[in-house]
Amino acid sequence: MPGTKYAFLSDPYVAGSGKDPGPAHIPAEESLGRVISNDWVNEEYKHLIITASPKALAVKPGQFFNILCPSPDDGELWLRRPQSIYRIDRANKRLEFLYKCVGRGTRGMATFAPGQDCNIVGPLGIGFSLKPDAKNIVVLGRGVGLATMGPISQLAADNGVKVTAILSARSPELVMADELFSKVGEVIRVLDTDGTSAVENVQDILQRLIAQKRADAFYTCGSNRLMFLMKDLGKTHNIPGQVAMEQIMACGIGPCYVCVRTFETNGHKELRRVCIEGPVFDLQECVGW
Ligand SMILES: Cc1cc2nc3c(=O)[nH]c(=O)nc-3n(C[C@H](O)[C@H](O)[C@H](O)COP(=O)(O)OP(=O)(O)OC[C@H]3O[C@@H](n4cnc5c(N)ncnc54)[C@H](O)[C@@H]3O)c2cc1C
Ligand code: FES
Repeated sequence: MPGTKYAFLSDPYVAGSGKDPGPAHIPAEESLGRVISNDWVNEEYKHLIITASPKALAVKPGQFFNILCPSPDDGELWLRRPQSIYRIDRANKRLEFLYKCVGRGTRGMATFAPGQDCNIVGPLGIGFSLKPDAKNIVVLGRGVGLATMGPISQLAADNGVKVTAILSARSPELVMADELFSKVGEVIRVLDTDGTSAVENVQDILQRLIAQKRADAFYTCGSNRLMFLMKDLGKTHNIPGQVAMEQIMACGIGPCYVCVRTFETNGHKELRRVCIEGPVFDLQECVGW
């Protein structure tokens, strides 16, 4: 019977048709992790570490989990909140998230205490890919986007690929994951406080890396302006790139269409769901948000 061969049947399948549904499209599950710690890293961001099931630990860089957040008040909190994986610690069977407390969901996440259960659905979506011929990559992240860039940088370093990480933030205290990126490559911090985060300056840095042949591929998340900059430079210099998009979501698995955005391929505009056709997309196909 087709249904027993694969654990997750999210490919179109008509019961009784006898048609094999093929490999699972979303090998995801709902699981409970145990909170190990949930500490503040600065006044806006927290770092959540939980234990994880084998399926959750199969998460790839750029994929995300939909987290059931405790209510921070007396009201109900209906929808899960998407969070990218920040660090995959397979040796200790743990997953890590770096999240900004912005609203009720993330303020609810901030109440997670060690020992408590954390209900997650995932891994979800399509993550980053690393081309086998890439020897040097540039990752560019801003704000919460920095969390998303952690695992692809780690994967690159594990494969002997050199990483240059450009970390953009409002102020020095908000440059997160500095330690993680420093371990895997060169870190360039650009800040609003001293004006170095200006697009023109980031452009100069990227052009220097291109001239030094240190940019075989671009990866970015967290800023529309920086995404457009990488897209332009990528097009001019024929450098492939990927962007992880953050979009307000509801179901996180495909049916509700809340997360639809416009993309462009060969001059044709099309709508795609960020949760299931992304959140990682080809840089040249993105039209921003
Ligand atoms: C695939 C994906 C991965 C993400 N990864 C991370 C991450 O690693 N770390 C992190 O801090 N945040 C991440 N986000 C953003 C995170 O999901 C939102 O900050 C969170 O859902 C806000 O929920 P809330 O209830 O606290 O805030 P709300 O009260 O719902 O909203 C507060 C503010 O956040 C904005 N917001 C709400 N949902 C999103 C969203 N999905 N994307 C962007 N802005 C949103 C709202 O417009 C509003 O301005 C990710 C989002 C997506 C789609
Ligand atoms: S969030 Fe429901 S389809 Fe993407």
